Amino acid sequence: MNAWPDDTGWPGPVTDEECMVTHWGREIPQRMNVKNVNGNDAKCLIAYFSRPGNNYVNGTIVDLPAGNTEVIAKMIREMTGGDLFPIEAVHAYPADYTETTEVAQEELRANARPDLTRHLETPDSYAVIFLGYPNWWGTMPMPVFTFLEKYDPAGKTIVPFCTHEGSGLGRSVSDIRKICPQSAVKEGLAVRGGDVKNARDEVAGWLQDSGMRF
Ligand SMILES: Cc1cc2nc3c(=O)[nH]c(=O)nc-3n(C[C@H](O)[C@H](O)[C@H](O)COP(=O)(O)O)c2cc1C
Repeated sequence: MNAWPDDTGWPGPVTDEECMVTHWGREIPQRMNVKNVNGNDAKCLIAYFSRPGNNYVNGTIVDLPAGNTEVIAKMIREMTGGDLFPIEAVHAYPADYTETTEVAQEELRANARPDLTRHLETPDSYAVIFLGYPNWWGTMPMPVFTFLEKYDPAGKTIVPFCTHEGSGLGRSVSDIRKICPQSAVKEGLAVRGGDVKNARDEVAGWLQDSGMRF
């Protein structure tokens, strides 16, 4: 399948060890102190959907030990000290990439809300939600829609980030704004899948620029 061609060099699949941002041979910036829109200390959640395994990256099918979005989510955790929450559907997506694109397309068409495997115990304790997902067919995977509707982040700040193969954030941010009209939805960060390993400075800069004080 050649839906999102890319001619940049794929640096190779991300290994578990490389997911530990401390192992990348770079200094970790001092942990940032996230403030919410009112300037108060904000406890932040990093909720993300990511699908490891068989994926299409820079024109090639590869096996990713950790999903691209998870790599970025863990960088954000290192930089903010936030809590990680993996968003995962009860039904597993197929191991095969192309089959997953078909299942996902059908879920999008049906406007499905797949049940989630985990329950977020204390949603009210978070003032800021970093929301991560891969671009699937121009928007978020449907389990992310489930998450937003289930935990209704009214009055909270949502900071989207996505990984993709050429479509960037697509229409995901406007979809988030539709589902969460009472949330402050910040500018999103889009990182190409093949670039996640080298995205550390970009992530740090985006956190600084995201409108919250650090
Ligand atoms: C079901 C499916 C649909 C996708 N649709 C798009 C798309 O519309 N645009 C795009 O740029 N990339 C698309 N991709 C590529 C993913 O966004 C990209 O590989 C992403 O980095 C995967 O993140 P993950 O490893 O965290 O799951 C799609 C991938 C899958 C599996």
